[in-house]
Amino acid sequence: MSAISALTPADVTSALRPHRTASRRIGFVPTMGALHDGHRALFDRARTECDVVVASIFVNPMQFENPDDLARYPATLSADLEICASAGVDLVYRPAASTMYPVGFDSRVDVGRIGRVLEGRSRAGHYDGVATVVAKLLNVVRPDRAYFGQKDYQQILVVARMVLDLEIGVDIITVPTVRETDGLALSSRNTRLDANARARAVAISRAIAVTATRFAHGTTGARELSNEAIETIEAAGLDVDYVTITDPATLEPRETVRAGDVILVAATIDGVRLIDNAILGA
Ligand code: PAF
Repeated sequence: MSAISALTPADVTSALRPHRTASRRIGFVPTMGALHDGHRALFDRARTECDVVVASIFVNPMQFENPDDLARYPATLSADLEICASAGVDLVYRPAASTMYPVGFDSRVDVGRIGRVLEGRSRAGHYDGVATVVAKLLNVVRPDRAYFGQKDYQQILVVARMVLDLEIGVDIITVPTVRETDGLALSSRNTRLDANARARAVAISRAIAVTATRFAHGTTGARELSNEAIETIEAAGLDVDYVTITDPATLEPRETVRAGDVILVAATIDGVRLIDNAILGA
């Protein structure tokens, strides 16, 4: 694995040149570090589908609309590099902030409507930051496939829209959410929950599971289902930002739920914003 020092874009290009010449399939997992088993699942999937696996670790300031959130983002570089090594990652790209955003940098990728609803509405500019950094990373790595976790469902739609619109030429692969045994979706933010908040946070995945069961048993009213989920989550003391059931591609809210629709939840506990989702009737 090459990752001892932070690589430049030119280093990445040279390291990947022989693989490209040999037509080896390159898989890419962009991350912000603080790696956990959810990232591990992305590496594992990339490893099984690709000849070369590249990861990036870059905490992207442009996607944090709240400076405190950025300051509190966990930094665990040596553990991250160990995880990459044990997962068989071939190359870790860790660009410096000054490489990503040099003096004079003045562009941003605005993905439009899909980036402005839900998370995009609550976190203004967040998806411009995600799309901009992912576009830059894809331009440097030029992978055949890029892997993203389903936990960030809307992020995948934003990235897929951008890749299509800007003709970037990479397959975007969705990897199912990895969960704790009680159902809590793995997230780098979970490390910021104390024991009490951690125990209550599971209300999100429980509410989603109950919604899935109620839908499987024939309840199709989106308002009824989402109101029940909101009640469950609020009863555990979380502040709900949204619970919505939408079309899986457009994120337009449904009135009547169909199989394949997605329930998306965002809620805050002790100042930690958590998101989760599930495809209903899957
Ligand atoms: O999902 C993440 O960790 C980030 O949003 C990403 C895709 C690495 C862009 O900074």
